[in-house]
Amino acid sequence: MLIIPVKRKYMDDALNKLLIVYHSKSGTVKKMADAIVMGAKAIPGTTVELVDPLKVTPETVKTCRAIIIGTPENFGYMSGPIKYFFEEIYYECIECTRGLSYALFVAADNDGSGAVSSMKKIITGLGWNNIAEPMICKNGVTSQEIESCRELGMTISAGLDLGLY
Ligand SMILES: Cc1cc2nc3c(=O)[nH]c(=O)nc-3n(C[C@H](O)[C@H](O)[C@H](O)COP(=O)(O)O)c2cc1C
Repeated sequence: MLIIPVKRKYMDDALNKLLIVYHSKSGTVKKMADAIVMGAKAIPGTTVELVDPLKVTPETVKTCRAIIIGTPENFGYMSGPIKYFFEEIYYECIECTRGLSYALFVAADNDGSGAVSSMKKIITGLGWNNIAEPMICKNGVTSQEIESCRELGMTISAGLDLGLY
């Protein structure tokens, strides 16, 4: 069966850029993000841009070809700064980022599903295209999970370099 990928509407405007947006209060999400960035940067054809969710502009999102978003689970939801990020970009990006490829990563003590579902609900409205299973680390992050994060970054970066997104 032929699968026709969903392509972004205004793809030509976007650079060959992978955007990584994350928030971390006590460092676990940061460890995951650092590994994702390391993997992503191993592919020379991709530009990796790391941005603070409290500083990111809609323009930054409009000019990427894929986005990876990371958050701790707080009270069964994404963290405040990640919610702020979605509030800042939502209406300006809703038309021109349809089909944008995305992946999620989450750190939690014992769950993580609430953070994932709260982000997915908003992303459904934006019409973005999920390209990887959410990476959830519970109760800290093991060296095996760090390696999985590195692989996630490298795989998405390579896909972007190959023009898949
Ligand atoms: C205010 C607050 C609320 C939290 N709520 C949850 C929760 O609902 N479910 C859960 O599994 N962990 C919860 N946690 C634990 C964090 O998600 C977890 O420690 C995570 O690894 C923190 O990531 P960070 O080190 O990057 O900040 C909460 C932590 C804080 C500080």
